[in-house]
Amino acid sequence: MLKVGVLISGRGSNLQSLMAACATPGFPAQIACVISNKADAKGLDHARAANIPALVISHRDFADKLKFEAALDAALEKHQAQLVCLAGFMRLLSAWFTERWRDRLVNIHPSLLPAFPGLDTHQKTIDYGAKLAGCTIHYVRAEMDHGPIILQAAVPVLADDTEDTLAARILKAEHKAYPAALRLIAEGRVNVFEERTFITEATASDEILFNPKI
Ligand code: GRF
Repeated sequence: MLKVGVLISGRGSNLQSLMAACATPGFPAQIACVISNKADAKGLDHARAANIPALVISHRDFADKLKFEAALDAALEKHQAQLVCLAGFMRLLSAWFTERWRDRLVNIHPSLLPAFPGLDTHQKTIDYGAKLAGCTIHYVRAEMDHGPIILQAAVPVLADDTEDTLAARILKAEHKAYPAALRLIAEGRVNVFEERTFITEATASDEILFNPKI
């Protein structure tokens, strides 16, 4: 059983999808703790309702980023986390933390990286006129929304999409993609070599997603 620490800052719908997967019989991972840097994060309630240790470690309580990250690190170690999943965690982590957890730290981002990293991803996708969007689960490096890609899922961008309708479509994909990526990692099937991942016994989907349809 791979023990996972989940870092959140808000709503926690991806946390919920990971919790649901981990509650499935035979799933090879379990959530050891949930840590939020915000006391009012809704995701904390989901964790508490499932009796998962839910901690608040606020960046505001520390003199600098390194002290904040040392506290995160200590809490993760205390709960024996072997992997850290960022799920809507809104603080940029330093190279100290990303190196300490190198290839044991993953993030989900609501775009097909390397397109549209950073904030306002959905609006940037619409403004650019991209026809396909999606989500990416990747190992984390110090540079924001950057690192070896583990899994991506694509959805169309529709002509009348707003930020909210596009976000909702991508979120549905996120909720399938993150548990699937976690399973691959927990099964020991994700190998990083020269900053690319290679997935053991993975079958590539041969479906082509066209938008507009041809
Ligand atoms: C998701 O869109 C995720 O991709 C991004 O932040 C959002 C978090 O949503 N990193 P939730 O808190 O998991 O509902």
